[in-house]
Amino acid sequence: MSQANIYPPSADFVKQANVSGMEAYRALYQKAADKPEEFWGELAKEKLHWMEPFSHVFEWEPPFVKWFVGGKLNACYNCVDRHVGEGNGDKVALLFEGEPGDSRRITYSELLKDVSRFANGLLRLGIETGDRAIIYMPMIPEAVIAMLACARLGITHSVVFGGFSAEALKARIQDLGAKLVITADGGWRKGKEVKLKPAVDEALADCPSVTSVVVCERTKTPVPMVHGRDHYWQAVEAGQSEHCPAVPLDSEHPLFVLYTSGTTGKPKGILHTTGGYLLQCAMTVEWVFDLKKNDVYWCTADIGWVTGHSYVTYGPMALGATQVIYEGSPDTPGFDRWWAIVEKYKVSILYTSPTAIRALIRQGDHLPNAHNLSSLRLLGSVGEPINPAAWEWFYKVIGKERCPIVDTWWQTETGAMLIAPMPGAVPLKPGSGTLPIPGVMAEVVNLDGKPVGPNEEGYLIVSRPWPSMVRTIWGDPKRFEDQYWSRVPGKYFTGDAARRDEDGYFWVLGRVDDVLNVSGHRLSTMEVESALVRHPAVAEAAVVGKPHEITGQAVCCFITLKKGEYDHDVLSKELRQWIAHEIGAFARPEEIRFSEALPKTRSGKIMRRLLRELVTNNTVAGDVTTLEDLSVITKLAAQQDDES
Ligand code: WTA
Repeated sequence: MSQANIYPPSADFVKQANVSGMEAYRALYQKAADKPEEFWGELAKEKLHWMEPFSHVFEWEPPFVKWFVGGKLNACYNCVDRHVGEGNGDKVALLFEGEPGDSRRITYSELLKDVSRFANGLLRLGIETGDRAIIYMPMIPEAVIAMLACARLGITHSVVFGGFSAEALKARIQDLGAKLVITADGGWRKGKEVKLKPAVDEALADCPSVTSVVVCERTKTPVPMVHGRDHYWQAVEAGQSEHCPAVPLDSEHPLFVLYTSGTTGKPKGILHTTGGYLLQCAMTVEWVFDLKKNDVYWCTADIGWVTGHSYVTYGPMALGATQVIYEGSPDTPGFDRWWAIVEKYKVSILYTSPTAIRALIRQGDHLPNAHNLSSLRLLGSVGEPINPAAWEWFYKVIGKERCPIVDTWWQTETGAMLIAPMPGAVPLKPGSGTLPIPGVMAEVVNLDGKPVGPNEEGYLIVSRPWPSMVRTIWGDPKRFEDQYWSRVPGKYFTGDAARRDEDGYFWVLGRVDDVLNVSGHRLSTMEVESALVRHPAVAEAAVVGKPHEITGQAVCCFITLKKGEYDHDVLSKELRQWIAHEIGAFARPEEIRFSEALPKTRSGKIMRRLLRELVTNNTVAGDVTTLEDLSVITKLAAQQDDES
């Protein structure tokens, strides 16, 4: 191998690994490439419990795919009942740590009872298989229970991250036509209560499809309850039986819809179904996290994002894992909270994001060094490219040079990891997701679909369907086809740029579209722009990403105002607040610049490339011959100089 920093797996790790040695990885990869039906078919039979067998492995009518056709199963049964049935009912499923310091441990048997009682309660509310539910909750066990209860009954869930505003919540409820909303009074974050129920009430003023709201009491703050519509969680499960049959569902039954940002102002409802999704989530936990019976696994993601779906609820639970879930923020009460949790629960596998790692590096090594982290044996990263400096710190200071780091590349749309190392086989290179998961045909190509040479940049595409692939965009199959399958006809277009090095390793470079990645959260520039122009003072807005030391990218807005007198400082604050209201606090812009005009081409298109260059370098060197008014750029740059 050609690059300086290569970390082959240690002999001890290889010895115990689920996939041990490069030959084992290559054999899996080759079999999946040559005989995908046999490969996935055997795994599906072996790893999942089927209520009715499937008749064939997949049906591919581009761009639509079906996996395990004709088979019936239940995701909740696979994640809970099966483990109890196999004699593992006393195994701990969830180790919950609340931000204020309260904790709970829930075994698989207890979980089965909790899920069943709650599911029976939902049936009593008149919610049925095929209905849709929104889950808008803090990171507490009831959030996982709510997802599993929906899965048990075949209610398609859509989790909305608790940081989204009432406006964002409303748009999602309406698009999904949800009948049920499951929420909480609030949750704890940074020592304060984040209220959730008031946002639900605000959103529901405009959502006639919703007939019931279930409110879990977490913070115990009194909330207004609408008679006949709102029910406390406890009342819903009170008196319900601990037995609730898991409904046999078609392998292609919609398990969940998760909204994510695309290149327009309207979020896309990414649809995932049951059999293929569950299988690939489970397999990647086994292969990439190398999960064993005694591991204590902790993925720090919130269930509001896809990572919380695939690598909190469905993947680890399909394998009967014991896992930690933590409600709050990494800095409460101090910046060593995570390390205290690792020590307290003896966490052995820790999966987190580069943003979090960079934020923790800043706080100094003395914090992790003050805790016993010797239980750790594997570390993982997801959400954005991890810079080698953060990788090295994670490796040395947290993993004490003993723990492999799995850098996992995937997307809301891919459902599960597509490019990630098998840690007992594949030598690591900091910053690279390394090689594809078996069965994943990833390529780096030019716009004609032709593979580019080693170390040349191109578009990352996937040329064959995989089990956990997005099935469609909820209610918009045309957009699904246009977005993902038309750039390189018949191939899945990821929207990421990448290169492959001479060893075939993938290096993902970032998005090629107008999607920003702020702290590993996807945000579309168009979504922020359309929120800005809804403000009465704003005439026009252009939003670009600016490199940011901690969050990877930060939101930077260029704004022209309608006629009138404005105090720019006051308006800046107001617009930040406005974005928090329209989208959510996490989307709040880092920088707002006002300008008399925005740089445009003669045909009237805003030249985002120039703006990106301006926020990155504070000058514009590129070709500006098509620019309508060069003085605009000069003024925007000068404004920055004034401020700094
Ligand atoms: C980026 C999160 C580099 C990428 C699971 C992708 C990454 C987008 C990595 C998906 C990684 C995610 N290395 N880039 N390991 N993981 N990305 O849908 O740009 O929230 O397209 O899914 O995050 O973000 P999403």
